[in-house]
Parts: sequence; C-alpha cells; structure tokens
Amino acid sequence: MRRTRPYSARWGSDRGTGIDRVYLDRFFERHSKDMHGTVLEVQEPVFSARYGADIAETAILDIEPRNMLATIVADLNDLDVLPRESFDCIVAPQTIQYLTQPVTGLKNLYESLKPGGVLLITAPFIQKIDHNGEGADRLRFSPLAFNELLETSCDGAEIEVESFGNVLTSIAFLMGISAEEMRPQDFDVFDPAYPMLVTARVRRPS
Ligand SMILES: C[S@@+](CC[C@H](N)C(=O)[O-])C[C@H]1O[C@@H](n2cnc3c(N)ncnc32)[C@H](O)[C@@H]1O
Repeated sequence: MRRTRPYSARWGSDRGTGIDRVYLDRFFERHSKDMHGTVLEVQEPVFSARYGADIAETAILDIEPRNMLATIVADLNDLDVLPRESFDCIVAPQTIQYLTQPVTGLKNLYESLKPGGVLLITAPFIQKIDHNGEGADRLRFSPLAFNELLETSCDGAEIEVESFGNVLTSIAFLMGISAEEMRPQDFDVFDPAYPMLVTARVRRPS
C-alpha cells in the first residue's frame, strides 16, 4: 500500500476486469426484467445484450459521431435532443459524470421514456478520473446528491437509489487492482460510508 502510483491507471482493465464492473453487472442483472421492448443504451449494447429479454429494438446513444454503433448522436447537455416517450428502458452506465448540465441530461433521458418505462443509470462516487475519453470526466455523486438530482430532474418519477462498495473494494479500485485479484466475498460487504458505485432505477409512472 505504501506507493504513490497505482498498480494500473486503467481501472485495473489491463490486469483483468475492473472492480466497478462486478457491481455494474450486479445492478443490471438485478433489473434485467426492466430491459425489454424498445431499449436505448449509451455507447454500445453491453448490459442490454447481456441481461435484456424480449428486446424488440436497441438504439445506441453517443455524443461521439465516430461511434459506428450510434443510432442517435446527441449531446445530453442540450435540452430536447432525444425523441420523447419512445423507450421502454434506457441503460445509462457511467455517463452522467461527463455532463456539464446533469439536470438537463437526466431530463432528456427521463422524458424519452414511455409511460411505465424505466431508466437504469449508474454513476461513480469513488473512481479515478478518466483522462482518456473524449469528454471531460468532471463529476462524482454521493447517493444523497444523486437522489436529489434525480428528484429535481425527473418530474413525478419513482426513484430507487442504491450504492455498492466498501473500503477494501474502493481502495483496490483506486489502486487499479482487478476483480480477479480479489476474493468473491470482498464484494459482498456493503459499507454506506464507502460507496464506490451509485445506481438508480427511475420509473416513469404509467
Ligand atoms: C464510460 S462510457 C459509458 C458506457 C460504457 N459502455 C460503460 O459500460 O461504461 C461514457 C459514454 O458517454 C458518452 N458521453 C460523454 N459525454 C456525453 C454527452 N454530453 N452526451 C452524450 N453522450 C456522452 C461518451 O462518448 C461515452 O460513449
């Protein structure tokens, strides 16, 4: 531990699976029943393809026009960039930290849900800054702040915020240790003082 440089500066992905990915999988697997019908996922169909069932159509959103998978190229910071009331489920992992206007971004996502549709969204709380991506990684969200932000942005929504992590998985993630280097039981303890990943299921009332 007495080192000022991490073992990996790439979230452990060059040593194996990033520790946050274990928690992301747990969250999306838990809500697999929500992923059906017309689905929108950010960047690429990772979690909807892994856990979705009865998906009729998958749209892909990205700000990056070079993303050949993107069917909607849009900046979530701009209001009304998404089609309204169009999706049964939106899968938005690890994207909100890049926004300059998170309230607008969440409004866009929420208002593009059909009535009864569900937004599954995650955000980092303890995580190194991404200097590699196209956008600037600028925000971190405590569970409390994430809940308040969702309440402000998503009018009338049913919101369930949860978080994952403990001091060991949080330190290991910062150090760039991979999930394969941990013991399975390390992931099972949740300590609300050390939330690594914050998640929300946001349902638009029918
Ligand atoms: C870290 S990736 C998240 C999805 C990834 N598949 C995952 O599992 O972590 C962040 C994505 O958000 C996109 N993004 C960043 N800023 C954005 C914005 N203002 N509007 C829309 N997409 C944005 C990036 O281009 C990138 O595709």
